[in-house]
Amino acid sequence: MSSAAIIGTGSCLPERVLTNHDLEKMVDTSDEWIRTRTGIRERRLADPGTAASDLAVPAATRALAAAGIPATELDLIIVATVTPDTLFPATACLVQERLGARGAAAFDLSAGCSGFVYALGVAGQFLATGVYRTALVIGVEVLSKIINWQDRNTCVLFGDGAGAAVLQSVPAGRGILGLHLGADGSGGSLLTLPAGGSRLPASSTTVQEQLHTIHMSGAEVFKFAVRVMGEASLKALEKAGLKKEDVDFLIPHQANIRIIEAATKRLGLPPKKVYVNLDRYGNMSSASIPVALDEAYRAGLLLRDHKVVMVAFGAGLTWGAAVVNWELDPPKGA
Ligand code: UT7
Repeated sequence: MSSAAIIGTGSCLPERVLTNHDLEKMVDTSDEWIRTRTGIRERRLADPGTAASDLAVPAATRALAAAGIPATELDLIIVATVTPDTLFPATACLVQERLGARGAAAFDLSAGCSGFVYALGVAGQFLATGVYRTALVIGVEVLSKIINWQDRNTCVLFGDGAGAAVLQSVPAGRGILGLHLGADGSGGSLLTLPAGGSRLPASSTTVQEQLHTIHMSGAEVFKFAVRVMGEASLKALEKAGLKKEDVDFLIPHQANIRIIEAATKRLGLPPKKVYVNLDRYGNMSSASIPVALDEAYRAGLLLRDHKVVMVAFGAGLTWGAAVVNWELDPPKGA
C-alpha cells in the first residue's frame, strides 16, 4: 500500500461581508451575543447568481497552480458539499468540465461539515491502493442560499466559501498517516434540510414552511461536537501511531470557538498551534477546514514534516479526523 499527500491547496471566498452589526438589523440579536456565544464577527456571502461550482473552480485552480499540476493530470475529483449547484448532475462533474479535467472520475460527497475530511479519506484510499495517482478534493458551500434569514438560531452562524487540495500518491509512511471517520444516524434530525429530496419533494407548502432551510437543535449538536472532536482526533492519532504530544498543528472545523477550545484542551495544545478563522468567515461547513488549511499553509504556519490534525463534526451526525505528515515547505515570502 502507498499513501496520499497534499501537494497544493487553494481557496476562494466571496467578497461580500456580512457583519454581526448587519445582522442586528435583520433579527433580534446582538454583536455581543454572537461574539461571546460563537466567536464569529463576520462572514462572507455569495451573490445571488453564484453557485457552489463558481466558488469551487477558482479554489481548485489555485490548488492546482500551487501543486504545479495541470487539470488534465487529475484522475479523480470529489466535491464535499451540502449545497451543490443542483441535486444532479454532481457539482464535481461541473467542476471537472470547467477545469478541463475530461475523463477524471467525479462525484459529490455528503457528510455535512465533516465532508472535507471524509473526501480526503476516500480520495486517499484510491491513491493508496494505486487505482489513481492524482486527486482533487474540494469542500464548498453556499449556505447563504439555504438559511432562514428570519431564524436567529441559525442565520448568525454560517458563511460561504470554498477550499481545495490536490493529492498525489506517495510512499507509505508519508502524507495521510491516520484517519478516523464515523457517524451516528440516530442524530440525523438534529441538523437537517427537511425538504427538496424524495421524502418531502418541493411544493408550495414546503416553501411556505421554510423546509428548504437549515433546521438545527444547536445545543444538542454542541454537546455532540465537544465530545467527538477530541475523541476522533485521538483515534486518528492512535491509528497513525502518534500521541497528542506529537501534534504540531490542529485545523479544526470552524463552528464555534467554544467547541474549538474544548478540542484544543482535550489535545493539550497551546492556542498558537490551532488555526482559527471563524471570526472572519463563520461556519462554512465542508469548506471550513480546506480554507483554514490553505490560509495556514500560505501564512507559513505549516512546515515540512509537521504532524497536522484536521478534525470535524457535522450533519448525519458525522465526525472525521485525519492526521497528515505535511509534505510541503512554506511558500516563498510566507
Ligand atoms: O457545523 C455544524 C453546525 N452546527 C453547529 O456548529 C452548532 C453547534 N451549536 C452551537 O454552536 C451553539 O449551540 C449555538 C451557538 C447554536 C447556540 O449557543 P448556546 O449557548 O447553545 O445557546 P442556546 O441555543 O442554548 O440558546 C441560549 C439563548 C436562548 O434564549 P432563552 O431560551 O435562553 O431565552 C436562545 O433563544 O440564546 C438565544 N439565542 C439568541 N440570542 C441572541 C439563540 N440565538 C440567538 C441569537 N441572538 N442569534
